[in-house]
Amino acid sequence: MILPMYIFGQPVLRKHAEDIPTDYPNLKELIANMFETLKEAEGVGLAAPQIGLPIRVVVVDLDCVSDDEPQFKGYLRAFINGHIVEEGEEMSDFEEGCLSVPGIHEKVRRPSRVRIQYLDADLQPHDEWLEGFEARVIQHEFDHLEGKMFVDRLSPLRKQLIKKKLVAMSKGKFACSYKAKPNHA
Ligand code: NI
Repeated sequence: MILPMYIFGQPVLRKHAEDIPTDYPNLKELIANMFETLKEAEGVGLAAPQIGLPIRVVVVDLDCVSDDEPQFKGYLRAFINGHIVEEGEEMSDFEEGCLSVPGIHEKVRRPSRVRIQYLDADLQPHDEWLEGFEARVIQHEFDHLEGKMFVDRLSPLRKQLIKKKLVAMSKGKFACSYKAKPNHA
C-alpha cells in the first residue's frame, strides 16, 4: 500500500522518533508499505516520520542506482531502532534532496564515515561502519529520526535563499509527483 508523504511543516517531522519493541504490530507490513511508497516516489531512502509515524524505522533502496553503481544490486534494507554511535573525522559535501521537501536540492556537509547500530528486517542486530553513498543516505534518514531535516544543515545564506519556498511549502504550496500530506494548519 502506498502511503502519503508527510511534507515539510508537518509536526511529526520535527519529533524525536522512539525505538520500537521487537513485537511491534504488523512491522513486516509496515516495512513492505514503506518500500512500496519509496519506489513510487522514486527515492533512495524513507524514514517512518515521513509517513507520519514517530518511530525508528528506515528503509533504503539503493538497487535503483545499481545501473551506475553495481555494488548496490539488490540493496533493499530496513534499519530498525537505528542509531549513529560514532562518526569519522573526514567530512564530505554532497547534494541532497528529500521526499518531504520536494523541489529543493542543496549541498550538505557530513562525515564521510559513520558507525551505526540497528536491527535488520529479521530483527538481527548489526554494528557496522558505513562509507560513501550508503553513509550519506543513512545519515540523511537517521536525521529524520531526530526530527532533523537536511535544510537545517545549510549555511545561514543558503537557508535565507530557500526560506520563502519552505514557508510556502509548509502552507501547502509545492508540487510533487507522489501522494502527499501537507500541513493544512
Ligand atoms: Ni529526507
